[in-house]
Amino acid sequence: MLTQDIIKEALKTVTYPGFEKDIVSYGFLKHVDLDGDKVTLSLDIPSSAEEVSRALEKSIVNRLVGLDMSENNIIVNIKKPDIAQRNAMGKNIAPQIKNFLMVSSGKGGVGKSTTTVNIAIALAQQGKKVGILDADIYGPNIPRMIGVGGNKPKIENGKVIPLEAFGLEVMSMGLIYEEGESLIWRGPMIMRAVEQLLRDVAWSELDVLVIDMPPGTGDAQLTLAQSVPVTAGVTVSTPQSVSLDDSARSLAMFKKLNIPIAGIIENMSGFICPESGKEYDIFGKGTTQPLAEKYNTFVLAQIPIEPNVRIGGDEGKPIVYFHSDSVSAKEYMKAAHRVWDEIERINSEGGASNAQIQPTPAGGAACH
Ligand SMILES: Nc1ncnc2c1ncn2[C@@H]1O[C@H](COP(=O)(O)OP(=O)(O)O)[C@@H](O)[C@H]1O
Ligand SMILES: [Mg+2]
Repeated sequence: MLTQDIIKEALKTVTYPGFEKDIVSYGFLKHVDLDGDKVTLSLDIPSSAEEVSRALEKSIVNRLVGLDMSENNIIVNIKKPDIAQRNAMGKNIAPQIKNFLMVSSGKGGVGKSTTTVNIAIALAQQGKKVGILDADIYGPNIPRMIGVGGNKPKIENGKVIPLEAFGLEVMSMGLIYEEGESLIWRGPMIMRAVEQLLRDVAWSELDVLVIDMPPGTGDAQLTLAQSVPVTAGVTVSTPQSVSLDDSARSLAMFKKLNIPIAGIIENMSGFICPESGKEYDIFGKGTTQPLAEKYNTFVLAQIPIEPNVRIGGDEGKPIVYFHSDSVSAKEYMKAAHRVWDEIERINSEGGASNAQIQPTPAGGAACH
């Protein structure tokens, strides 16, 4: 005899398309109504993309047919958000923050944290009130990169007070846990951690919170998209083909989560020899442009490999602040302008879907 519990149990093996976990763990399955042989399922998902709901429906039906149910007896109702609705009425657990910029990458080590820090400082230098949320709980590097590594945040009225550096507010799990303390993060813990970093931190009324995500497309990304209306996403990619494949996944994730794409930062794009100023192509250059076109977006900047970018990261002296005349600093400033233009455009359209973004040619070669 088929019961609701058997059906629910079976649905725990149906993963949400493009993500690691199943629809029950994510809380997307709302109701299971069983009437004789007939089952009606109601789901509430965070993506409005047609292909996501179609793929999901197919895997649900396949799974239940595997329980000997007839396909005709399975009704799947999937409720999808539309983006304007999500922005206007959706959940926002940090409503004092006007915009959320999610910095993502397909894999680690490509310069996501470096980009987060330098773009955030560039935005602050352009007059915006900015915060950085280090949501990369596996590798919380932001405190070191911004020079607040040893500082402990205060707690007032039950809220954690963000630290301040370079005119920014900063918060990271790395500031709350002891350095070197290893935490084994499981799915629900990650989700709770991301929520806490938004809700339990006394963020000011920021123009924008720049968020350094863990690499990949997992629980943290989904939780963020469900907790606040993410205004736009930026993907960081190095020019090699393997990195591009990962970046494509990161861009596809933005689309699945209905997050408008602000653009791609091409990092480690050529090497500038500090002695001669001559440029060498190490990982390639300009290769992110076709990817940007495929996703109807822009290459926001091409950041060369520059020793001062790395030294700045290691010593908590971000290049945008300390070497404002360097090629990288100028590229970060340009990227910040373009990101802000995109944020304003997205807001003026009530949170446009990425499909409506009109591409313009990407920035030209930057390294000479
Ligand atoms: N354009 C660059 N030039 C030189 N070093 C860089 C550049 N971008 C990043 N790095 C260095 O590469 C390492 C990885 O960068 P990081 O921002 O920590 O990557 P992620 O956050 O994606 O893991 C860091 O040591 C950083 O200083
Ligand atoms: Mg990082």
